[in-house]
Amino acid sequence: MSAAAPPVQHPRAKDGFRGRTCSITAVGSYVPTRVLTNADLEKMVDTTDEWITSRTGIKERRIAARDEYTSDIAAQAATRALHHAGLTANQLDLIILATITPDMLFPSTACLVQRKIGAHRAAAFDIEAACSGFIFGLEIGQQFIMSRTYNTILVIGAEKLSTIIDWSDRSTCVLFGDGAGAAILQNRPNSHGLLTVCMGSDGNKADLLSMPGGGSRCPATEKSVADRLHYLRMDGKETFKSAIGAMLTAAQEALRRCDIDIGRIKCVIPHQANQRIIDAVGERLGVRPDQVFVNVDRYGNTSAASVAIALDEAVRSGRVQRGDLILLVVFGAGLTWGAAVIEW
Ligand code: ACO
Repeated sequence: MSAAAPPVQHPRAKDGFRGRTCSITAVGSYVPTRVLTNADLEKMVDTTDEWITSRTGIKERRIAARDEYTSDIAAQAATRALHHAGLTANQLDLIILATITPDMLFPSTACLVQRKIGAHRAAAFDIEAACSGFIFGLEIGQQFIMSRTYNTILVIGAEKLSTIIDWSDRSTCVLFGDGAGAAILQNRPNSHGLLTVCMGSDGNKADLLSMPGGGSRCPATEKSVADRLHYLRMDGKETFKSAIGAMLTAAQEALRRCDIDIGRIKCVIPHQANQRIIDAVGERLGVRPDQVFVNVDRYGNTSAASVAIALDEAVRSGRVQRGDLILLVVFGAGLTWGAAVIEW
């Protein structure tokens, strides 16, 4: 940030707000150890490294072991975030877990994580906003902190997408990977933390990206399995177009609310779905390439975990320092989208 830049004012301060604010006091992430490269995919479906790289920017992704579930991946990320915060699990008041690949329909994966990490005092629930889930989780957590309902909240984005991918469909199987990211939310006096979070949805476009089977509309039957309804389906072209427009709108709205010019953002962390989407959004926002954090080449699209993993990596690598301004911007099935401005 330039030395001459005026201090950032919390958007709510304009209305005379003097209450609590919400900070992300630590982050953590975890990706499974098994790497699936584009060369590996060339042996599985009719594709090439050249096609995948030029259309998506993805070179490899992580795939969880058969007996490593979303709750395990989430618990690893949570444990790392707690360690970085210097907290123990029994200090948590609430666990919010965003996923489209829960261990099972119920109980919630958040409850399974609560058991795994020993967060005995915490309430726990899942949310589902697809790739936007982590930002939606941050906003829900922030509301609990600002209302003084809870003091210490764990927000997790975690996915084992490899279980809902049709490994015979080359148009989708090259895009996704497994992983988890987690953040600790707390009130820190004299700190701005989360400046604003914008969220949006458009259920009219629900069919662009969905998994039709397994819910109340289409429970599992021999036919639903034979028809491959328990796998993710996507209209790639339409999803691509909607993603760029929605991410741009969300990012601009978040910046407008904070009265911050994009030039003051140290690090833009977009949903890691596709390098071409990241480039298009970055170009329209007017960001320099060095402002944008990218790891889609190594992990592919990890849905709700995507920006959470990227935020942790940006912090660990020193790309983001305390006091820097960060812009998170996401897009996912629903459709859903969102953006957050954070004073780190
Ligand atoms: N390898 C080789 N060829 C392929 C592959 C592949 N893996 N996949 C598709 N093709 C072929 C198609 O069959 C098609 O061939 P044809 O012209 O003979 O019919 C050709 O490549 C072009 O296919 P398109 O679908 O038009 O390719 P496009 O340039 O649109 O790129 C892609 C496809 C990468 C999926 C792009 O549309 C995209 O990124 N969409 C957005 C995806 C996304 O971000 N989804 C996540 C949203 S968030 C969430 O909630 C999960």
